Amino acid sequence: MSSTSEMPMVMAGGRLAMLTAHLVPSTEPNDHAPVLEPQSLSAAISPPGNLKGTLTIVDERTGKRYQVEVSEEGTVKATDLKKISTGKNDKGLKLYDPGYLNTAPVRSTICYIDGDEGILRYRGYPIEELAEKSTFMETAYLIMYGNLPSESQLADWEFAISQHSAVPQGVLDIIQSMPHDAHPMGVLVSAISALSVFHPDANPALRGLDVYNSKQVRDKQIARIIGKITTIAAAAYLRMAGRPPVLPSNHLSYTENFLYMLDSFANRSYKPNPRLTRVLDIIFILHAEHEMNCSTSTVRHLASSGVDVYTAIAGGVGALYGPLHGGANEAVLKMLSEIGSVENIPEFIEGVKARKRKLSGFGHRVYKNYDPRAKVIRRLAEEVFSIVGRDPLIEVAVALEKVALSDEFFIKRRLYPNVDFYSGLIYRAMGFPPEYFTVLFAIPRMAGYLAHWRESLDDPDTKIMRPQQVYTGEWLRHYTPIHQRPVSSNADKLGQVAVSNASRRRLAGSGV
Ligand code: SDX
Repeated sequence: MSSTSEMPMVMAGGRLAMLTAHLVPSTEPNDHAPVLEPQSLSAAISPPGNLKGTLTIVDERTGKRYQVEVSEEGTVKATDLKKISTGKNDKGLKLYDPGYLNTAPVRSTICYIDGDEGILRYRGYPIEELAEKSTFMETAYLIMYGNLPSESQLADWEFAISQHSAVPQGVLDIIQSMPHDAHPMGVLVSAISALSVFHPDANPALRGLDVYNSKQVRDKQIARIIGKITTIAAAAYLRMAGRPPVLPSNHLSYTENFLYMLDSFANRSYKPNPRLTRVLDIIFILHAEHEMNCSTSTVRHLASSGVDVYTAIAGGVGALYGPLHGGANEAVLKMLSEIGSVENIPEFIEGVKARKRKLSGFGHRVYKNYDPRAKVIRRLAEEVFSIVGRDPLIEVAVALEKVALSDEFFIKRRLYPNVDFYSGLIYRAMGFPPEYFTVLFAIPRMAGYLAHWRESLDDPDTKIMRPQQVYTGEWLRHYTPIHQRPVSSNADKLGQVAVSNASRRRLAGSGV
């Protein structure tokens, strides 16, 4: 019988065995090869150069000619097009751009992506180099402050974050009060939003819009959010397992501390596997920032109203929750599990081509080439399998990728694997349940959200975001009394709202 002090280790080992029971025992030699082999970096593409110039627009509706300035970055101001009008009641040209496919609402120095070339750089550094040589803490500093830190700067950064990793008891109570089957992303959104009310010192609604003019106030919120997100995420995980939260350790690195809180059973001498820690740290680097993706632009959108940074980030995490965005890694695992075996791939692919299914983990708004992060993650998968055993679904994923990359339907639409295609397999092999995968995406993305928040505060062009619309509704109507309103059969109306099953039982009873 193990001693009580060894019990947590035995239980943790048992958990790993139970969670990875579906993994075939790995026959790979357990040599401690470096986690990542140096990669040929993305092709060196020179910057576009100065694109400044002028457009001459001839409006053939009126015969008028207009001059529109092109900036050196190759943009035109959308508001410059308002002067193009046919007169009468015409308010001038607008840009109709659903999903902002070709609209840049901000200028940024944080992240550069070339989707055609499969290039991703944080502050000019190729993602492949950072994944190979950096740590998430160092990369988060780079993303936040623009340069790689000195040793003392990195030490101060890590200390400040570890000192702010404890979470108010009230937030932990909110996490514990959630329904037993609450999706951990819903728990995360609620907990981050709750942090707002526990930090009134950082709330412009209480302290005035100037509160964020102070670098000290900004840096404190940055340290708080990066420090607390792992503790909140760990509390959400432990809640799913019916276990109490574990206090963070100040003696471990950032990613080590996260795994410690998940697996230590509060045994302060517990140390996570160093190779699994390194794999997760690299995954955090890969997910830290990605310019104006749906959730980061949501953070900027909310922050433009002057709302506090916690509420803005809670909104961003809400956007990340979506299966088309950060939730895709969970959707990939469900898809691979549903396909089940290589033999079922042709039928599944036909379903995708018939528009009955999406190929989760494929396609990207920007990458029309292989997502450089997917290449790194795919190699990491082999590292994880060499530690915890091989996931048979990897064979389905590799075969599915091979079929998709050779099929005209995907080639024509330039659909390639994105960051989410392989990450889910790693997370599952590491023993995480699918509904937790997006939480692992959200943790490192706090760095990107906060860097964009800081940048928006200092940008003189920042305005409250209030897009235009194209109105296609009724032009003018006048009020009619309720008894005189025509009932149109094809007009939109409230449908049948079903009552809950419990309500049906109660309604069938008496005296309700
Ligand atoms: C992330 O933006 C970011 O940077 C996000 C992200 C980050 O780091 O923040 O990189 C993280 O969110 C990665 C993406 C994860 N999402 C998925 O894997 C979900 C599956 N992918 C798709 O839903 C889609 O590709 C999107 C949402 C990612 C991009 O959609 P777009 O740019 O709006 O492209 P689209 O829907 O207009 O597609 C163009 C065509 C369409 O076909 P047609 O109508 O022209 O015939 O390609 C088809 C689409 O139907 N298509 C797909 C597909 N993705 C696009 N068809 C099948 N399966 C897919 N996955």
